[in-house]
Amino acid sequence: MGNQKKYDENCYLTGLKNAAEYIMKEIRISGLKETPAVAVILGSGLGAFADCISGGGSLNYAEIPGFVQTTVKGHEGRLIWGRVGKTPVIAMKGRFHYYEGHDMAKVVSGVRIMKLCGIKGLLVTNAAGGTGEKFLPGDLMLIKDHLGMFTPSPLRGNESDYFGPRFPDMSKPYSERLMRIAQAAALEEGIDLKKGIYAYMQGPSYETPAEIRALSGLGADAVGMSTVPEVIAARHAGIEVIGISCITNSAAGTGDKEISHDDVMSVSGKVENTFVRLVAKIISMWPG
Ligand code: HPA
Repeated sequence: MGNQKKYDENCYLTGLKNAAEYIMKEIRISGLKETPAVAVILGSGLGAFADCISGGGSLNYAEIPGFVQTTVKGHEGRLIWGRVGKTPVIAMKGRFHYYEGHDMAKVVSGVRIMKLCGIKGLLVTNAAGGTGEKFLPGDLMLIKDHLGMFTPSPLRGNESDYFGPRFPDMSKPYSERLMRIAQAAALEEGIDLKKGIYAYMQGPSYETPAEIRALSGLGADAVGMSTVPEVIAARHAGIEVIGISCITNSAAGTGDKEISHDDVMSVSGKVENTFVRLVAKIISMWPG
């Protein structure tokens, strides 16, 4: 390996460790005694969950040394920690996307920093387009598996050896026990929650009808521009994962409307209360 590459990788890891150390120091100062057990990544228009977190504090991404900044409308760029029920939790209100121009190592840097902060579990959320009739705008979908082969892996390069093996198993990307808990939480809250498969596309253009037909033929129920890189990095690092999509629109060619980010935000805004109730319930039922 070239010296420059080795140097870049060392810088990457040092940057992650510095950010984690800074966050942990702020968590202690805020008075939260426990280490956050679960991280939550809040997708487009789904940030209101942060208001359910109490007994901790928060930081803007800009205050954290080395933390990537968000550039997307609806992604505030704030880290919030505290408790939901008895579960100590840390939430990223705003995430990093490949289409923003970051390389994949940066896209997953938040997950890796949370890992260095000590999390054992990750709940990822996103806004997604429904590819067929199974999921309609306004539905919530528990992600049972994903399609992610249309993108470079976040594990490409050698810096990731620090977090896990070169060839990690991905046969159980989403935790079965956590899916059972999510379904029990949905039942208690009276929320309809079916399972489906999420497909990752790089964006930022929405898909064409031909792409959606192809994805649908491959088994996808929903499509979006996030989540999969984070889940790969999390599983690689031994983190237990659960994912929920908020279906905000009919994917290209399956509905009668053009797709716009404003409409995506408007639908996720309408579902936000239900979504927050579900996520808060899941977090409060999180197994030790
Ligand atoms: N495609 C990709 N990403 C999305 C969509 C979509 O239809 N809706 C919300 N995010």
